[in-house]
Amino acid sequence: MKNIKKIACIGAGYVGGPTMAVVAQHCPHIQVTIVDLNEARIAAWNDENLDNLPVYEPGLDAVVAEARGRNLFFSTDITKAIDEADMIFISVNTPTKTYGKGKGQAADLKYIELCARQIAAVSTTDKIVVEKSTLPVRTAAALKSILNNTGNGVKFDILSNPEFLAEGTAVTDLQNPDRVLIGGEDAEAIQALVNVYANWVPADRILTTNLWSSELSKLVANAFLAQRVSSINAISELCEKTEANVDEVSHAIGMDSRIGSKFLKASVGFGGSCFQKDILNLVYIARSYGLTAVADYWEQVIIMNDHQKSRFAQKIIHTMYNTVNGKKIAFLGWAFKKDTNDTRESAAIYVADHLLDEEAEIVIYDPKVTEDQVYKDLDYLATRSPEANRRLVTVVNTPTEAILDAHAIAILTEWDEFKAYDWQAIKVQMKKPSFVFDGRKLLNSKEMRSLGFDYYAIGE
Ligand code: UDX
Ligand code: ADP
Repeated sequence: MKNIKKIACIGAGYVGGPTMAVVAQHCPHIQVTIVDLNEARIAAWNDENLDNLPVYEPGLDAVVAEARGRNLFFSTDITKAIDEADMIFISVNTPTKTYGKGKGQAADLKYIELCARQIAAVSTTDKIVVEKSTLPVRTAAALKSILNNTGNGVKFDILSNPEFLAEGTAVTDLQNPDRVLIGGEDAEAIQALVNVYANWVPADRILTTNLWSSELSKLVANAFLAQRVSSINAISELCEKTEANVDEVSHAIGMDSRIGSKFLKASVGFGGSCFQKDILNLVYIARSYGLTAVADYWEQVIIMNDHQKSRFAQKIIHTMYNTVNGKKIAFLGWAFKKDTNDTRESAAIYVADHLLDEEAEIVIYDPKVTEDQVYKDLDYLATRSPEANRRLVTVVNTPTEAILDAHAIAILTEWDEFKAYDWQAIKVQMKKPSFVFDGRKLLNSKEMRSLGFDYYAIGE
């Protein structure tokens, strides 16, 4: 049985960083090295000041503090880490393709392929290669082919070990996972990875399957979760017409143990790096096998999500007398959910884009997102020039600056601190009538209305 002494992880991002930090914390006998091409990112992971870690996750700083320098290392020396490791995790980004066949739908596997070629070129001993990034089904076949055809005759075993952590709760999800899924063909390789997790995960929560079930399960888990959000968001629109309250409906249906209460919170739309990408992937795979009904079914989850984002923006425009031109709209929140600095696919980006088309002036406050990131997100859409984005959008460091003289406040992320604000005092600072558009149904509507706000929340 292969005894794992050294692990390398390629990719020091939102998945690789926290996952490997927790592995290192629980396996002091294994040396874990996380490598990345991005020098700035590695420098940030090595920063003495733990506030500067490149990924913000509650509790992550303590885990890094415990393991870093002991058996957890961050480095740009990819070759050395690969060469020394018994087991290599691939945790690089797999964005949706922006060119060629499958553009806008299929995953771009160029980073994965580059990793495989590098592993093959460098390896002089047998390796277990673990897919950690979310990948289309059957990627392992491509990986295997590259490794075996370009390698130096050493043995490569490929495992699929998809990550189910959610951002904002990554550390607790990793410490105490509902399940760990390991797919593979070789029993010894599978057991070697089972043994790593068995250092802190109970045996009955470590599940082993064939490679393809494991790869597909990751996509399906995310598709089901996203589908629940789109389903309740569809109902939120109906609630707004019928005087039903979406939170009451969620609560009522969620008490049915067959339905369950989680992931039924109506919102301005789901974001994050996974949901949309994974569903697009599922749709693409289904279409490529000619399964049109299956593809159309899952595609509807995305169509509903896009509708929810644009309908929220339209609601703002319509309520503010059909014009937001030159009006100051304060955005509270830019991240795709609370407790993360990640903005990938955040609903806020698309809501802002709609309002900017109408020449609104947007002032953004998010406790964790930087000005630079906000402009990057807007420029990436290429809807208007970077100059226009900078003319119309301001990013501030305090909520007070955002709120002063605003015609409206839009809540885009459910940060806890927004609930604790003195809304009575905020009312005084705003223009009248004072509109609040609550895209997270975060505040108490009765209280907000009694304070004199024109308050609108998703789903009521
Ligand atoms: C998701 C999966 O949960 C995780 O298992 C997988 O590994 C990666 O993708 P993540 O994207 O980090 O995790 O966050 P998640 O908590 O799933 O939220 C995704 C989006 O859905 C967020 O924008 C969130 O605000 C939204 N959401 C979630 C809702 O609008 N309502 C809900 O009830 C739940
Ligand atoms: P995720 O959310 O999947 O972790 P991120 O974009 O946060 O995605 O992180 C992926 C990381 O992988 C990035 O820091 C990127 O620089 C790194 N990366 C991509 N390709 C390679 C490669 N060939 N070698 C090393 N690192 C890579």
